[in-house]
Amino acid sequence: MKAVQIKPDIYWVGAIDWAIRDFHGYVTPNGTTYNNYLILDEQVTLLDTVKRDFSEVTIANIKNLVDPSRIRNIVINHIENDHATGIGDIMHLAPDASIYITDMGKKGLERFFDTSKWDIRVVKTGDTLSIGKKTLFFLETPMIHWPDSMMTYVKEDKLLVSQDGFGQHYASAARFDDEFITCYSAAELEDSVRDYYANILMPFGTLIKNKIAEIQKSGLEIDMIAPDHGIIWRKDPSKIVNMYLDMANGKADLRVVIIYDTMWHSTEEMTVPIMQGIKDEGVDVKVIKLRANPISYAVKEFWKARGCIIGSPTLNNTLFPTVAAFLSYLKGLRPKNRMAAAFGSYGWGGGAVKDIYEEIRKMGIETVEPGVQVVYKPSGEDRKKCYEFGREFANRVKAYHAKFE
Ligand code: FEO
Repeated sequence: MKAVQIKPDIYWVGAIDWAIRDFHGYVTPNGTTYNNYLILDEQVTLLDTVKRDFSEVTIANIKNLVDPSRIRNIVINHIENDHATGIGDIMHLAPDASIYITDMGKKGLERFFDTSKWDIRVVKTGDTLSIGKKTLFFLETPMIHWPDSMMTYVKEDKLLVSQDGFGQHYASAARFDDEFITCYSAAELEDSVRDYYANILMPFGTLIKNKIAEIQKSGLEIDMIAPDHGIIWRKDPSKIVNMYLDMANGKADLRVVIIYDTMWHSTEEMTVPIMQGIKDEGVDVKVIKLRANPISYAVKEFWKARGCIIGSPTLNNTLFPTVAAFLSYLKGLRPKNRMAAAFGSYGWGGGAVKDIYEEIRKMGIETVEPGVQVVYKPSGEDRKKCYEFGREFANRVKAYHAKFE
């Protein structure tokens, strides 16, 4: 896709990755984009590069606007591979450009590239760079998404280039929020934002809240937010900021998601009366079998719902492997403000339900115990127990959810 003007003399020159479905293990059913931005000022300045596979695409976009050898400054807001691996190709064309990056970014970049001939200038929060008519203001945002991360604010255009922050993994021809909503829907966009936040930024809610407060206190006026993934927020940038604040403050839907796996369908059979009990208490419910879905999808649905019931058969006295993998992934994301319980079938000694509770207690998730277990296969009486367990859990979730309203 050719370059798109986003502000006077500022252009999106990025690439659309329609085909990617595995983003370092996180499944991206809608692909993604690698956004970067070119400013045509007295000093031509490039904000970020792209994943190296797409170097030719961004270079073609740049060449349609200016000779790349005229690039004087390159800002690297984040060194992760999807943004910075294209730097070598850009530096080949603009060897005299200066690179602006955080101290942590510089240290990381030196691990990926031979930077000995590059002019690298370390910046920190509050540093500015005048490039002619426009002024760049740098703002460090460590852990949103890596320790090196920063954002760049273009003062005269009230434009915040936010690298991973406020992004979404969604390949579309729409470059702006209003275009996307017209072509798709606001609900699709919101789902994509929540998916991205759940799988990438969930552990950093407190840092995100503090950084947004810092930006608001600093008095920076923002009328456009341009992330390095997905659409650019031009119609209403406050919408994405408020969504982030809501998520960082624990926002969830009043819903229960049942996430499970099964060996010989016994644990699976338990999901039916549990689901019905939840439904009969007026709470929305969704059922996700782990072997039929990517973990990142289960995590997105976990994050959107206030309550989760995790089911596993016992295999060799412990968890079924897919359930163990889900819990391991979830642990790293450090979920907060969610309620969970466990269920499962076993043949003799049991162990899976105990292990689920141990894991979710360690994560600090509010638990409803002791869950429900059946031997071998659920009997009629077991199904009643499951149904009542579903009802009880739904009522506990309703009461817990009310604390956040
Ligand atoms: Fe899009 Fe943290 O990289």
